[in-house]
Amino acid sequence: MSPFSRKIWIKTYGCQMNSRDSETLKALLIQAGHVIVDNEKDADIALLNTCSVRALAEEKALGKAGRLLKRKERDPNFCVGILGCMAGRRGAELLKILPALDWIVPPQALPRVPSLIYETLTQNKCTCTVADVPQAFDFTCYEQQLSPKPVLFVPVQQGCGMNCSYCIVPKTRGHQQNRPFESIVTEIRQAAQRGTREVMLLGQIVNAYVDKDAQKTFVDLLQAIQEIDGIERIRFMSPHPSFFNEALVTCFGRLSKLCPALHLPIQSGSNRILKLMRRGYTREGVLNLVKALRAVEPRISISTDLIVGYPGETEEDFEQTVSLFGEIHFDMAYIFKYSPRPTTEAASSEEMIPEAVKEERNQRLLSLLNHSSTAYNETFVGTKQEVLIEGTAPHGEGKLFGRNRYNKKVIFNGSPKLIGSFKEIFIKKATSSALEGYIVD
Ligand code: 5AD
Ligand code: SF4
Repeated sequence: MSPFSRKIWIKTYGCQMNSRDSETLKALLIQAGHVIVDNEKDADIALLNTCSVRALAEEKALGKAGRLLKRKERDPNFCVGILGCMAGRRGAELLKILPALDWIVPPQALPRVPSLIYETLTQNKCTCTVADVPQAFDFTCYEQQLSPKPVLFVPVQQGCGMNCSYCIVPKTRGHQQNRPFESIVTEIRQAAQRGTREVMLLGQIVNAYVDKDAQKTFVDLLQAIQEIDGIERIRFMSPHPSFFNEALVTCFGRLSKLCPALHLPIQSGSNRILKLMRRGYTREGVLNLVKALRAVEPRISISTDLIVGYPGETEEDFEQTVSLFGEIHFDMAYIFKYSPRPTTEAASSEEMIPEAVKEERNQRLLSLLNHSSTAYNETFVGTKQEVLIEGTAPHGEGKLFGRNRYNKKVIFNGSPKLIGSFKEIFIKKATSSALEGYIVD
């Protein structure tokens, strides 16, 4: 073992893109001779891969970093890094709150982490390194072999070039850069040979994916993955309603591997608020899109993201969101209370909505959601569902979990040897968040 090999613990906050970044980073660190540990107490180095999308996510990571740095007071060899979106948004400013940090690394510079660790260890450095944002993202980092997984999350782009008034992402992850088409297809082909059966294509506006050099669009990418032997299911998230065209809509009828489940962030049902948010579509546009999708695939499951309490949101605006909820029948939704993000356009509004009003609107939507998602999930009771088994369920001895094609989580008893295979599950019971059943022989 090299004298510069360390035990490293990584904690991840935020979205699937962040989870995949952490997985890739683990692979890079193992390749560099380090060991990844599950327990922070065993670690020589702690890395927090952070999220900035709402204030609460940042507060949680800052609290954790503060507690980790207390250990550094007793054990000066212990090192702590803040990686990811909060590092991108706040950079060296973090040193004012956490002066003992060792590394601050924005998402675009994550592939550099192994060399930053090496420099700190070899040079016995005790000052913090704030990594620069590279001009171009190094997409080859995603070609590292991860431990084999039934479901693989595959980034197809980095950053976001949209201008939504509430959103911090362009400031944390930079503007949209697309991963080369061949790099994506190669990663998926290799993963299929190692047991991957389902891919989730990831991007901030995934359906705006384009490889200009190779002259390939997002639909070309779906088509190419459809043709990879071993891959049985394709999903993607998150698309932007404005980047759907007929070619993409018809994929849901044409490509047998494309799952009939779509996460479509809509944010608000009010045209006035959508305009203030600079979303670039209207409520009517969204309703037409959903109609077109359902014409192609009548059973398509649609989920969404909604923000309540955007600055200036009136009761009438909110009612528009409530009525959209009724019109679309979302099978699932993530409802967020608006959180002002420094430097974004909406954060300087003088029409902030009081916390109590946000909370009340949040609760109203949650209660609607509870009814609609339970009703949707109950439609599966008494049916057999083909489930790709992903792993052991976190709660419940001897239980496994997987998903059906509609992206519903299914929990059942079974041997861990079944992980990675498809099984027919008879559904006995539904809750608002999952289905329960047993394996059909
Ligand atoms: N406040 C609340 N929710 C937000 N989101 C993005 N920015 C904010 C914000 N400032 C939500 C959006 C997005 C999801 C990932 O997070 O709904 O789709
Ligand atoms: Fe993901 Fe956005 Fe959070 Fe970054 S800020 S981790 S891109 S949700």
